[in-house]
Amino acid sequence: MQNLEQILSAAQSDFAACANIADLEQAKAKYLGKSGALTEQLKGLGKLSAEERPTAGAAINVVKQGVEQALQARRDAILDAEQAQKLASETLDVTLPGRGRKQGGLHPVTRTLARIEHLFHSIGFEVAEGPEIETDFYNFTALNIPDDHPARAMHDTFYVDDQHVLRTHTSPIQVRYMQAHVARHQQLETMPDVRIIAPGRVYRVDSDATHSPMFHQVEGLWIGEAVSFADLKGVIADFLKNFFETDDMQVRFRPSFFPFTEPSAEIDLAFTSGPRQGKWLEVAGCGMVHPNVLGHVGIDSEKYIGFAFGFGVERLAMLRYGVSDLRLFFENDLRFLKQFA
Ligand code: DAH
Repeated sequence: MQNLEQILSAAQSDFAACANIADLEQAKAKYLGKSGALTEQLKGLGKLSAEERPTAGAAINVVKQGVEQALQARRDAILDAEQAQKLASETLDVTLPGRGRKQGGLHPVTRTLARIEHLFHSIGFEVAEGPEIETDFYNFTALNIPDDHPARAMHDTFYVDDQHVLRTHTSPIQVRYMQAHVARHQQLETMPDVRIIAPGRVYRVDSDATHSPMFHQVEGLWIGEAVSFADLKGVIADFLKNFFETDDMQVRFRPSFFPFTEPSAEIDLAFTSGPRQGKWLEVAGCGMVHPNVLGHVGIDSEKYIGFAFGFGVERLAMLRYGVSDLRLFFENDLRFLKQFA
C-alpha cells in the first residue's frame, strides 16, 4: 500500500514538473505505459491469492484513477497555458483597416481602343487584326512603297532581318484582309464591301513627349462599288463627334501625300469651345485607296473604289483625357492610371 501511495505522489510531482505535452506523454509512460509502475502492479496481482486479489486490485485501481486524473489535470493546464500564451503573443488589432480586394481598371489606351471599336462597329465595320512582326512586302511593297521609294524614309523602321520589320503602321492589315476577302468571295460576281477597322501596336525608332517607339494605330478601310471621298468625310466627321461627345468641332481635310492613297489628306480637328478652342490638331491620315494597292490584292480598281484612314490612338486618348505627355501611357505609374479606373 505504501508503495501505491508513493507511486501516486511521484506521478503527481512528475506531471507537475512537465512544461509541455511531449514531456507529459513521456512521464505518463512511466506509470501507465506497457512497463509502467502501475502496469507492473497490475501484473503482480496474478501472484496473489484469490482472497487477496480483489482488495489489492481495487486499491491499484483507485491509484490508477488518481494518476489519470492528475495526468488530465496537467494536460488541461498545459494546453490552457499554451493557448493563453498564443493569444498574448498573436494579438490582433481588430481596428486596423482590412486589406480588401483592389479593383483593377482598364488602361486608358485600352479604353480608347474599345471606344473606337464600339463606334465603328455600330456603323457596320468589322475588327481585323494582323501580325506585329510583318514582312517587308506587306508593310511596304504591297502598299505601293517599293524598295527604292523615298517614302520608305517616312518611317523609321525597326528591322528584324532583311525581310521582316516590326510593323511601322497598321496599313499592312488592309492588304492582308483584302487578300483574304478576295479569296473568300472568288465565286461571286460582285464582292461584298470590305468594311473594317484594324487596331494594333506599331513601332518606330522615335521617342519624345509626343512619340513613343511603340504606339497604337487604328486603320480603317471601306472598299465597294461606289465609296467616295464624301463618304470618307462623313464617316470621319461623325466618328470624331461621337468619340469626343461634342458637336463643337471643325474637321478639316488638308491635302497630303501617302503612297497608298490618291488623293491623300491629313485630318485635322479644332474644338470650337473649351480650353483647346481654335487650335488645329492633326489626328489621322487618309485618302482614296491607290489603284496599285488594289491591284496587289487582285481587286479590279475599275470596278471597286474606296477609302482608308489611319488614326493615332494615343493622340486621340491625349485629346480626350487632356494628357500632355504620351510617355505617361507607358510608364505605368499607378497615380496616373488610377485616374482612369
Ligand atoms: N499608315 C499611315 C502612317 O502610319 C497612316 C495612314 C495614312 C493610314 C493614310 C491610311 C491612310 O490608311 O489612308 O503614317
